[in-house]
Amino acid sequence: MGSNICMVECLLNDNRKEIIRLLRQSEGNPVSGQEIGVKLGITRAMVWKYIKALRKDGYDIRSSPKIGYILDAYPDRVDPDELKKIMRTSLIGNDIRYYSELDSTNNTAREIAPKSPEGTVVIAETQNKGRGRMGSEWQSIPGGIWLSLILKPSIPLDNVSKITLVAGIAVTTALRNIGVDARIKWPNDVLVKGKKICGILTEVSAEVDKVDYIILGIGINANVKIADLKDEIRKNSTSIANEMGNPIDRTAFVASLLYELEQQYIKFKTQQFTNIVDEWINLSDTIGKEVKVTTPSKLIEGKAVGITEKGALVVLDRNNKKQEIIAGNCRYRY
Ligand code: BTN
Repeated sequence: MGSNICMVECLLNDNRKEIIRLLRQSEGNPVSGQEIGVKLGITRAMVWKYIKALRKDGYDIRSSPKIGYILDAYPDRVDPDELKKIMRTSLIGNDIRYYSELDSTNNTAREIAPKSPEGTVVIAETQNKGRGRMGSEWQSIPGGIWLSLILKPSIPLDNVSKITLVAGIAVTTALRNIGVDARIKWPNDVLVKGKKICGILTEVSAEVDKVDYIILGIGINANVKIADLKDEIRKNSTSIANEMGNPIDRTAFVASLLYELEQQYIKFKTQQFTNIVDEWINLSDTIGKEVKVTTPSKLIEGKAVGITEKGALVVLDRNNKKQEIIAGNCRYRY
């Protein structure tokens, strides 16, 4: 009995998803009830019932007699089913865990990591305890892209910070592909005209010198309304919607982000790290800037001049001495 109910519900859900897929695919052109009905093997009257149900769920579907249905707008959410259909990756995102709310995607990823395959992605529409670097809070309101990736590379512990650089390149490339003028601020921020659009939080579980897994947390202010951010971060933050003048299709953007992450991760595993360093420097906002970097043991002031083979920032200090910093908090001096 239970499984019969499930079969009916699943069928209803599948039909709704298929209608959305057909309407999205037609990119603003009308699709007739007749055509949808034939594709789904249901009557036009049934199609109309589904359309009404979808409207209730926030889909803005126009209907014009004799022409058909047009999808004008859909609810702003990352749609995991659509994502799976449009993704172009073979490792990253093979397993996608989607939630409307979590405390932190990094926490959930960490809980499931031991038994999850490499490439698993945890996504949430909102986080109620989103975490930033150095114990800071990460405001994760609706409209953002809050996700964590589980990676299991065979690398020594002191190579983990390279993964943050790899992720920075991927996020920046995905943003630049849609026309957002993003640049990377060492070590883990992506900026647009000096304002933060993305933060990356890399966490690791390791034994002695062997990495078990890395949790790569990425937070992007995609369609976040800047006015809704807390006072202290608002003036230094921006979002994709803010930069482009209109909200984006977050599902499509996540698909392209996962693709860029996979490309960079493959490079990381198969190529010399110098290639990645070169790419990072090309996209860098930090190189050439006067910086103040705080580490647990010291404060280094000087000019950022490069990145080492190990992924450390090279700062030319006041005594013209090159200092290599593997982790720290970087601020610009001017
Ligand atoms: C920072 O700039 O301080 C890093 C911010 C990282 C935020 C992301 S959002 C997804 C993942 N889950 C978290 O709790 N944090 C990271």
